[in-house]
Formats: sequence, C-alpha cells, structure tokens
Amino acid sequence: MSSNTLKHNYKITKSQREALHGHKSYLIWFTGLSGSGKSTLANLIEVELHKKGLSTYILDGDNIRQGINKNLSFTPEDRTENIRRIAEIANFMIDAGVITLAAFISPYIKDREGVMQIVGPENFIEIYVNTSIEECERRDVKGLYKKARKGEIKDMTGISAPYEAPINPDLEIITDDQPIEQSVKTIIEFVNKKLRL
Ligand code: ADX
Repeated sequence: MSSNTLKHNYKITKSQREALHGHKSYLIWFTGLSGSGKSTLANLIEVELHKKGLSTYILDGDNIRQGINKNLSFTPEDRTENIRRIAEIANFMIDAGVITLAAFISPYIKDREGVMQIVGPENFIEIYVNTSIEECERRDVKGLYKKARKGEIKDMTGISAPYEAPINPDLEIITDDQPIEQSVKTIIEFVNKKLRL
C-alpha cells in the first residue's frame, strides 16, 4: 500500500533536534500485565524527567485505544496492529527529540520485537514490569479481572489470553518485591546514563 510514495529527507536532523532539547531521545517501553503498574511507573518517571527540564511524552494503552486505535479489539491480530501503530507514532516522537514513555501490555514477543525494529534497537529501552497475575488480580483496579472470571470480557491477558514475558529486557522491575520509590530510582538511574548527548 506504500507504493508510489517517496521518503522526503528534511534538512533538520534528529541529532539537531536532540541538541536543541539538550538530551538524547529514546522510546522507554513498559510491558506487563494489566494492573502491573506500567502507567503508574511511566507517570512517576515522566515527573522526574520533567522536573529536570527534559522533554517527555507518554503514550498509554487506555488513551490510545480511546482515540487513534478505537477500532481495535484485543484479538491477537488487533493487538499486533495496536502495537505497530504505536511504534510508528513513537518513532515520530523520538525523531522529534522527545523522550517517549509507552505503557502497553504488548503481550507478544514478536510485536515488541517489531517495535524495536521500527524505532531502531539503539533507541529502544524495554522495561518489564513483572507483577504476578495473582497480585494484578488482587489489585483489580479497573474491575476487569473480576469481569473476565465471570466471562464478561474475553481475550483477557493473563486469564484467557497469553502474556509472553520478555526474555532479556533492559530492566526488570519486580513490583511485588520492592516499594515503588525503589523501582523509580532504578529506572531513573538506568535512563539517566543514556540521555547525555
Ligand atoms: S495490548 O495488549 O494491545 O498492548 P493495551 O495496553 O493497548 O493492550 O490496552 C490494555 C488496557 O485495555 C488494559 O489496561 C485494560 O484497561 C484494557 N482492556 C480491556 N479489555 C482487555 C483485555 N481483554 N485484555 C487486556 N486488557 C484489556
């Protein structure tokens, strides 16, 4: 479908935009079960980075699915398309020089690999928010697990749809084991080192 289109090369480059922002841009990708704490962590990390005067933006599952991806369901095919579109959006964001935080279940390894290919491995940081299904179900902030158990929601990740954990993430945060402040500190320390121009 992309035939008869040609990529245009503009004069201002990504490096020049990064120089203007004063830092490098990355895609920081949070993957994990619904209710694992991805959005909460992304939120706290953005606050820390923003306080330091860095340019940031968050792409989040619930928000994206109410807008650009509102035509997509939770079948494997639609999740793949969801993640592919998000990766393309994130690719623009990091090209614009913005540190982009993405919080999506993204349950399939091949879809997350696809994200890495789209944005380039050098721009991709994968953070596995490892919270057990038992803990996510206990929290059940949105009441979705309860509904899934009653059969009111189908294809629910962790209940009636799979979650493929990352094999070699850049960081793994085991939220059952440590307070959130510690998780934030670990991520900030890791990210900080990479932001310098
Ligand atoms: S993904 O699998 O395609 O990456 P995404 O992160 O965009 O999922 O959206 C997940 C959010 O949608 C969850 O946090 C939850 O609030 C909501 N949701 C609704 N139905 C489902 C479902 N069947 N499985 C998982 N999440 C669901």
